[in-house]
Amino acid sequence: PPIASQDAPHVVITAGPTREALDPVRYLSNHSSGKMGYALAAEAAAQGARVTLISGPVSLPTPPGVERIEVETALQMHATALRLAPEATVFIGCAAVADYRAESAAEHKLKKTDDRDTLTLTLVKNPDIIADVAALPSGQRPFVVGFAAETQDVERYAQDKLARKGLDMIVANDVSQQGLGFGSDDNAALLLWRTPQGNEQLSAPPQPKTQLAALIIHQTLAQLSLISSG
Ligand code: PMT
Repeated sequence: PPIASQDAPHVVITAGPTREALDPVRYLSNHSSGKMGYALAAEAAAQGARVTLISGPVSLPTPPGVERIEVETALQMHATALRLAPEATVFIGCAAVADYRAESAAEHKLKKTDDRDTLTLTLVKNPDIIADVAALPSGQRPFVVGFAAETQDVERYAQDKLARKGLDMIVANDVSQQGLGFGSDDNAALLLWRTPQGNEQLSAPPQPKTQLAALIIHQTLAQLSLISSG
């Protein structure tokens, strides 16, 4: 591996969806398969990093040399991320975290009623995991890489998320494109990062997630000067 083991960085990665219970048998979730996050974990480990993967429910094997912590809800992912991040060198938020959860999950299975044709759920906001990691005080704050799943105006929304969430780098993917993004083996992305001279960007065309992961890890390590750029 290119990184010498005595200065191996600790890379913490979130991956997969979260599941927000509505009642004992139902939940709110999304189509994240975990493939992108697991590819990042595999690549970081192959480069010689110590890798911890905080994973929502997915059906993928743990990549070799990676420590995996399984979580289900956004609140669990948040607690685990905030516990590990202060010791981490790099934090990558690839998980598709549910922005909202049910205000209270019903204790018993919700029943279908004959008298009403609609059912109203009250949702409350989940904490923003990556924004909270990025807001850690210096000394406890890792280098923070976020993702942005967009369906339009990819660059503008990604620039906005980079600034608003206080990230160092963002990987924006257009999840409206057929065969890319959620669930697929391929992805394309626009990488945006901050430099003292202003923002820089790199556009990565459609390619296997394993290959895109190598580019993202390379770019991250280069910015931390853990490897030479180029
Ligand atoms: O898992 P795959 O099937 O391989 O698909 C990969 C992917 C499309 C899920 C992945 O490439 C991706 O885009 N992940 C981020 C999905 C997402 O939730 O994007 P967002 O734009 O809603 O969130 C922006 C960033 O904030 C992300 O880094 C996200 O992890 C983070 N976030 C969001 C909400 C929240 N409550 N906490 C967070 O940390």
